[in-house]
Amino acid sequence: MISNIKFRKILNDLKRRPEDAAKDLQISKNKISNILSGKNSMDFNLIKKAVKIWPVNFGDFFTFEDDTKNDFKLMRSFKSNQSSRIMHRGGKPYYLYKDTVMSKLSPFKPELITELMVVENNYANNKNVKFNNGHFLHQFTYFIGPVNFYYYQNGKKKISKMNTGDSMYISPYIQHSFTTRKNKKNVLGKILALTYSDKIDNETLNEISAIGINLAKKYRINNKTSGNYFWSNLNKFLDNSSTTIDVLQREIKNNLKKLKTQKKVPQHKIIVKIASFLNLNTRDLMPPRKNNSVKIQTYKNSKKWFYPDKKSSNYQIVELTNTSQLPYSRAYEITILRNKKNNIFLEVPTHQYIYNISDDKVKINLDNFVVTLNPQDSIYIKPNKKHNFYGKGKIVVLRIGGRISGESLQQISMITEKNLERAVKDHNQWFNK
Ligand SMILES: [Fe+2]
Repeated sequence: MISNIKFRKILNDLKRRPEDAAKDLQISKNKISNILSGKNSMDFNLIKKAVKIWPVNFGDFFTFEDDTKNDFKLMRSFKSNQSSRIMHRGGKPYYLYKDTVMSKLSPFKPELITELMVVENNYANNKNVKFNNGHFLHQFTYFIGPVNFYYYQNGKKKISKMNTGDSMYISPYIQHSFTTRKNKKNVLGKILALTYSDKIDNETLNEISAIGINLAKKYRINNKTSGNYFWSNLNKFLDNSSTTIDVLQREIKNNLKKLKTQKKVPQHKIIVKIASFLNLNTRDLMPPRKNNSVKIQTYKNSKKWFYPDKKSSNYQIVELTNTSQLPYSRAYEITILRNKKNNIFLEVPTHQYIYNISDDKVKINLDNFVVTLNPQDSIYIKPNKKHNFYGKGKIVVLRIGGRISGESLQQISMITEKNLERAVKDHNQWFNK
């Protein structure tokens, strides 16, 4: 939606009073005031003019549309069924896709996919197995039934035999495929393919695209090993400060060059000194603990616990696969153990996607607004919304951080509640006359 609050924000950011904007856009001051007060809406031609003359983008004038009601969005199974479409590969039916709940507010695009190709062997180079080209979104997958998962790793085709409750994560552009293993019961395997973006979202891509690929590819940090990462990352900070390793070495009084040649991560106390000299946080310099391009986890090896505790447990929780490079993306299988409405609420700082994989009805209490999640229904719940589950049944839950996680959380925490409200609702000029 075109927003008058966004227009005020643009004027404030550009330090334009209504009379300045009127002059720039060659319209009357009255018209500007009417747009700012919400009396008139801003027409698209005016936006085009503004984008032409000011250092702003089209997206700056628009807000998200909230497609949730009471902080959630539900998709019933019949609606999922209506979205059914069969995808062919090599001229044969290969996948049956069904949408599950998606919201404009959160970057996940979850599908229930039935594997229509039944294979008689478990070879990765089976000619009936058709790999895709990989995709931009991260993918978490929950397996239901006898599914073969195929993927490329280090230029080689690999296969993993999956069963109900097993899970996997693949990073962007890993080529992959799924089939059903031939089985006596003749059931077709299914997957919940939960794809999502994290920090590299459409806005980031816009920025990369505008910078141009030749310049943008220089951003990449060498992450072959922790040592490579440390020195490659430190180099970026040195370049950004127009400082050299010689200067740093002299200040720190340590043979950094030797460590650099050996590609070793320095001891923590040295990292603290470097951070202090460059005025950074030590975590800005730390290499990631581990990067996974493909991670497979069997149900048997998944961590399990009772929540809140074993004695009075509302849920049995099974932690599905996750990876440290996406610290806010977590997936769980939750079995609901308490039949009655209760006051033990969950509140998670992430976007939540929930799918009912059981044959039972699950009740969701969203701050005294109760929703029944029938088998194969799915629901999206906004971050920080109090909720709990009761009744019977089993659900798969995917939580993702989206934009407001990690560093943005730290920066948001520095803005007072009042100013955060101002940031999204402010109608006023940045100064009083
Ligand atoms: Fe995929």
